[in-house]
Amino acid sequence: TDRYAVFGNPIKHSKSPQIHSAFAEQTAHALSYDAICVDEGGFPEAVNSFMQGPGKGLNITIPFKQEAWQMAEVRSQRAELAGAVNTLYRNAEGQLCGENTDGIGMVRDIVENNGGKIEGADVLILGAGGAVRGVLQPVLEQKPRRLVIANRTASKAELLADLVADLGDVEGCGFDALDGQQFDLVINGTAASLQGEVPPLPDDLLKSAAWCYDMMYSADVTAFCQWAQDHNAEKSIDGLGMLVEQAAESFYIWRGIRPATQPVIATLRAALT
Ligand code: ATR
Repeated sequence: TDRYAVFGNPIKHSKSPQIHSAFAEQTAHALSYDAICVDEGGFPEAVNSFMQGPGKGLNITIPFKQEAWQMAEVRSQRAELAGAVNTLYRNAEGQLCGENTDGIGMVRDIVENNGGKIEGADVLILGAGGAVRGVLQPVLEQKPRRLVIANRTASKAELLADLVADLGDVEGCGFDALDGQQFDLVINGTAASLQGEVPPLPDDLLKSAAWCYDMMYSADVTAFCQWAQDHNAEKSIDGLGMLVEQAAESFYIWRGIRPATQPVIATLRAALT
């Protein structure tokens, strides 16, 4: 049986084993997928022993995505720009390859699962940490009309904007610079959601029929989705679909087949408490 795993610390709340088991069952692929808690400092050894042994591929989560990026001998352009790797596998030459599927996962959830449009849209992304950096290239690939990255610390947003300046019309700023601007799509990638907080945003930030996307999810409406509803967003979506879609893209890289994600999203949604 081919073996896969997710490495992180902590790891016990990971839904990846459940998601990948569902994909394996659905596609009739025989494989195992474990969640493994790796000691900080022991990451490279853990990767090497897994991938030199029975392991065919790994997902990597907090706090090891940057270390995985460093270890990868080959990185896609997307992973390169993300500065983080969440999927490892070996290519035909035996090289350790690193990919980042988070951004693709989010874009698929917006565009394919929900029928949203990024192409031609005025898009705002809130936050400038690792989560946001991981999605910039796939968002820009959709050709938004413009992309603004707004962050509590404006300089970090400006740095990220510089990093992807070649890929489109991108600008970084602080939240106060949003006054008087309006967007078709606002994506929340700040860690403020973890405390149930929303960044300070102008009340007229959303165009009519604007969509909001929270990279975080929870059983209850997230603080940002609540903000979106309170400000008449046409649609507000949390990040559960992104979680499943990034997993599906990893599964595709490893197994060459795209599992259906809707039933898995529905099962997870029903089980959220
Ligand atoms: P992650 O991997 O989740 O992106 P991170 O790299 O630590 O984590 O980044 C956290 C992001 O959430 C940053 O953009 C941070 O803003 P700063 O760069 O100014 O620190 C943002 N953030 C965290 N708490 C926040 C809050 N209470 N309000 C607004 N933004 C917040």
